[in-house]
Amino acid sequence: MKFKLLSTLALAAVAAVQCAPKNDIIADNVKNAAVQLKSLVEASEAGDTVRIPSTFKNGEIEYVPTDDWVSGFFPGTLWYMYELTGDEYWADHARKHTEILDSIQYLTWHHDVGFMIYDSYGNGLRLKHIDGYKDVIVNTAKSLSTRFRPKAGVLQSWNTDRGWQAERGWKCPVIIDNMMNLELLFKATEFSGDSTYAKIAISHADKTMENHYRPDYSTYHVVDYDDETGAVRGRYTAQGYADESAWARGQAWSIYGFTMAYRFTSDKKYLERAENVAGYLFSNPNMPEDLVPYWDFDCPDIPNTYRDASSAAIIASALYELNWHTGKAEYKEKADKIIESLSSPAYRAAQGTNGGFILMHSVGSLPHGSSIDVPLNYADYYFLEALIRKGNIEKGIAPVTK
Ligand code: GLY
Repeated sequence: MKFKLLSTLALAAVAAVQCAPKNDIIADNVKNAAVQLKSLVEASEAGDTVRIPSTFKNGEIEYVPTDDWVSGFFPGTLWYMYELTGDEYWADHARKHTEILDSIQYLTWHHDVGFMIYDSYGNGLRLKHIDGYKDVIVNTAKSLSTRFRPKAGVLQSWNTDRGWQAERGWKCPVIIDNMMNLELLFKATEFSGDSTYAKIAISHADKTMENHYRPDYSTYHVVDYDDETGAVRGRYTAQGYADESAWARGQAWSIYGFTMAYRFTSDKKYLERAENVAGYLFSNPNMPEDLVPYWDFDCPDIPNTYRDASSAAIIASALYELNWHTGKAEYKEKADKIIESLSSPAYRAAQGTNGGFILMHSVGSLPHGSSIDVPLNYADYYFLEALIRKGNIEKGIAPVTK
């Protein structure tokens, strides 16, 4: 009897040791993130303004205005720290950084308001049920819906009358990234009871499935539509190596976007598309062993070119959700591998460095010479999101609440 008890205890001890690294990777990352992000909070709140940190270059933190597409990620990162720690410090600062985005609910000149408002107000609402946040989300959905082009059945991503987009001759460019804005539309229908937003989201997802993909399930970055006839005018890249190449972050938005569309619709074709994208990613000979992609899967300079940690973090987060919907262990195994890689000194900055950002080595837009091999606030956002999803799955609960 005594022997049996001792051997049971010994087995339990062995099991605990075997489990330890798995569980500790989340705790260790949260501890590290707390140190890094506190310094970033302090820097961004120095003086009497609240600024939005986006990256760190040449020894300086760069800040963006509220209408920049990345403005929601830092508040979202702080909300995730609150979710991971329960420490009100993070909620207080998250709220401060969220509410400076108030005017974005009326922004109509680009499509990224889903990222901007859902990652900030959406997370704040989910975690703290703050009065008025639902209205901001519904107003934002209204603004985003002004970009719906009924003949083409899509939301127009970019305007064509300004910046470098004006030089491309496009009429109604839609980028794969736009799938990410659908989450806000689905939630707005839930909050308002107005089905218009979800219908737009479904139409956009269906058209994207139809027109953005190659036979191998890699995605184009840009599809230009004729908004008067609905016809596809051409397929291009903006941030990738070439029109026919597979820009890494585009593939990341693609797997995340269709997994999320399945969450809201239970439509199996979206899940199947996400699985097909996973198939493309993990059978790609240019996917490195550590599963942190090069910035473009078809860059001819591989392996002598940049990795993009942001793509890896987005893919990991999507894979945890895909694992939950499909029950396929391989997706969690791949996501865990990515998290392990990103948590290593190869990608995770030493404390007190990197301007307070967590991850190094992301690429914003190489063709535009912008933000190459630097930290990016969205890499950190999706990294923390992936850790939350991992932790939830390991507790046997849904990685993401609808
Ligand atoms: N949505 C812009 C980007 O992924 O760089």
